[in-house]
Amino acid sequence: MSSPQGRPRDVIPPQLLKGQKALVTGANSGIGRATAVALGKAGADVVVNYVTGAEEAEAVAEEIRSHGVRAAAYEADVSDEGQVVTMTNRMIEEFGTVDILVANAGLQRDAPLTEMTLAQWREVIDVNLTGQFLCAREVTKEFLRRGVVPEVSRAAGKIICMSSVHQIIPWAGHVNYAASKGGVQMMMGTLAQELAPKKIRVNAIAPGAIRTPINRDAWNTPEARAELQRLIPYERIGEPEDIAYAAVGLASDLFDYVVGATLFVDGGMTLFPGFATGG
Ligand code: BGC
Repeated sequence: MSSPQGRPRDVIPPQLLKGQKALVTGANSGIGRATAVALGKAGADVVVNYVTGAEEAEAVAEEIRSHGVRAAAYEADVSDEGQVVTMTNRMIEEFGTVDILVANAGLQRDAPLTEMTLAQWREVIDVNLTGQFLCAREVTKEFLRRGVVPEVSRAAGKIICMSSVHQIIPWAGHVNYAASKGGVQMMMGTLAQELAPKKIRVNAIAPGAIRTPINRDAWNTPEARAELQRLIPYERIGEPEDIAYAAVGLASDLFDYVVGATLFVDGGMTLFPGFATGG
């Protein structure tokens, strides 16, 4: 599945997010990296959060700056309350405010149930779910303080939660991960309902199989790719840009009336492809 359609063409409107400040967590690699770069291309200033991989994160910030906007790499563990508070305050101090949060940082610690340790369970819930809660809470304080600035955006703030197709597809051997993403779904909807009257838009993206380090085993051999392709009606693996472009759209005023939605960006993985020939 070496993507016969090739990599996505770059079609980002350069002024779409002009003047906005975006925080992307877990932005040193994979989906977070592509999203941070795309937001920069759309005119936003970007904070590239990372917890490991300082050099990669600096390189991402450098690449974003080459598009004529500001960018900086901030280290913080999103599952640590103190570090999230410090990171958000630093961003407000150095960038003036925050308009967009892409709560992307996430990880997998896979094991069959009887072999999964409590530490593996907790690490995944702490990073994937609690991390999003902490970041959403801190940026919301700033959104509420600042309110709507009409020249910048119709909304007081935008939060995009990175979920997964596994917010609805059960996934044997990954109970911690699937549970964390199911939690993200309900957290996102609840926050969207709570914050909409304050003109804060909360939405989620649910990626399918995207070519990133998290799922290398699923795509780096021909056998694995063939197996994976059976699950994807559109018959190609996703590229990080597929998610990044969705995030740019959701963060922009083009999507101002989209509140509490989960956008599945998965090549049809959630269409029950097994039923194409059965049932
Ligand atoms: C997981 C990947 C997986 C994909 C589709 C993602 O959320 O992180 O490992 O390939 O879902 O199953």
